[in-house]
Amino acid sequence: MENFTFYNPTKLIFGKGQVEQLKNLIPNYGKKVLLVYGGGSIKRSGLYDQVIGLLNSIDVELFELSGVEPNPRLTTVKRGVEICKKEGIEFLLAVGGGSVIDCTKAIAAGAKYDGDPWDFVTKKHQVTEALPFGTILTLAATGSEMNAGSVITNWETNEKYGWGSPVTYPQFSILDPVNTFTVPKNQTIYGIVDMMSHVFEHYFHPAKHTPLQDRFCESILRTVMEEGPKLVNDLENYDLRETILYCGTMALNGMVSMGYQGDWATHNIEHSVSAVYDIPHGGGLAIIFPNWMKHNLDVNVDRFKQLAVRVFDVDPSGKSDRDVALEGIAKLREFWNSIGAPNSLKDYEIGDDKVDLMADKSVINGEFGQFKKLNKEDVVSILTASL
Ligand code: NZQ
Ligand code: ZN
Repeated sequence: MENFTFYNPTKLIFGKGQVEQLKNLIPNYGKKVLLVYGGGSIKRSGLYDQVIGLLNSIDVELFELSGVEPNPRLTTVKRGVEICKKEGIEFLLAVGGGSVIDCTKAIAAGAKYDGDPWDFVTKKHQVTEALPFGTILTLAATGSEMNAGSVITNWETNEKYGWGSPVTYPQFSILDPVNTFTVPKNQTIYGIVDMMSHVFEHYFHPAKHTPLQDRFCESILRTVMEEGPKLVNDLENYDLRETILYCGTMALNGMVSMGYQGDWATHNIEHSVSAVYDIPHGGGLAIIFPNWMKHNLDVNVDRFKQLAVRVFDVDPSGKSDRDVALEGIAKLREFWNSIGAPNSLKDYEIGDDKVDLMADKSVINGEFGQFKKLNKEDVVSILTASL
C-alpha cells in the first residue's frame, strides 16, 4: 500500500432517537442557525416538526433554506450563501439526503468566500475556511454525512463536479434509521447501488498488496448484497435500514480506503450523464459500472477474478481467469437487475445523440481514473455499451 495520513473529524451519532442530541450540540456553535432541506420529504415524514421543536427549545435564531434539488444546483448554493452573509449565520444544519448535505457544504464554504462558489467547485479557488455545519441524514447512499466531498451542478453549463476541503467535514452527523423509513423503493435501490459503487471505486485501485482493505471492501459488498434485497421488500424494517445506513457511511468515510487512491472514473462519467440529463446518481451508476468493468477487465484480471470469487461466489474450477472475472461482472448486473435497478440508458430515454457531449464533459480536465487512465474514446466506448 501507499503511505497515508487518516483524519476524519466528524462525530457520528447513530441510532434511534439520537436527534434529541441536537439540543446539546447546537449551542456549541452559535445562535444563528440556517436549516437547509430539500423538496419536502422531511415535512411529510414529521422530521421537520421534530427538528423545529428541538431548535425552539434552545436559544436559537432560526433561518431556513428549502427546495434543495436532487443533484443540487449552483443557483441554490448562491441563495444559501446570500442568506448566510446577510444574516450573519453561525451554523448550518442540513436535514436530508446527499444533495442537501452537499449543498450545505458549498454554502458553508461560500459564506467565507468573496467570489463565485463555482470557483471552488471547479478548483480555481482552494477552500480554506467554512462555516461549521452538522447533518441529520435521511437517505443511505452517498456517505456525504461523514466525508468532506460535495457534488454541485451548474445547470446553465451542464457541468457537475465533485470538490472538497479539509474544512468541509460535518461537525456531527445524526443517523437514525427511522428517518430513512420513508425513503421510497426506487431511492432505496439507488442508494444501494451508490454505496456498492463507492466500494468498487475503492476496490479497483493501482496499489499493491492491500489484503485488509480488500476484505473490508468485500465485507461491505457482501453485507449490502445480503441485506439490500430484503430491505427493498420491507422498507420499514429497522434492522435492515440500520445495516444499510451503516454500510453507506462506511463505504465512503475513508475507513476502507487507507493506503491507496481509488479509481473514481465511473463516478466522473456518471456525473457527466446526470449533468446533461439530470438522472438519479445511483441509477446512472447501475447502468455504467458493469460496462466500465468490462472495458477495463484486462488491466488486472486477477483483481476482477478475486471480486468474482469472494463476493459473487463464482466457482473458478476449470475456467480461465478471464471467464471467472466476466462471470462476476455478469452476476453484478444480475444482482442489480434483481433489485430493480436500471441497466441501460434507454431506461431514462437517453439515446446516442449526446454521447459525444457527455464524453467531452468527462475529459474536460484531461484523462482521468486511477486504475486506468481513460480518454475520450474510452468514455465513448463505455457510454455506447451503456445505451
Ligand atoms: O428533496 P426531498 O424532498 O428531501 O426528497 C429527496 C429527493 O427527492 C428524497 N428523500 C431523501 N430522504 C428521504 C426522501 N424521500 C422520502 N423519505 C426520506 N427520508 O430522495 C430524493 C433523492 O435525494 P438525494 O439527496 O438527491 O439523494 P442522494 O442521497 O442519493 O444524493 C445524491 C447526490 O449526492 C451526490 C450525487 O452526485 C447526487 O448529486 N454524491 C455525493 C457524494 C459525496 N458528497 O460524497 C458522493 C456520491 O458519489 C455522489 O456523487
Ligand atoms: Zn456515488
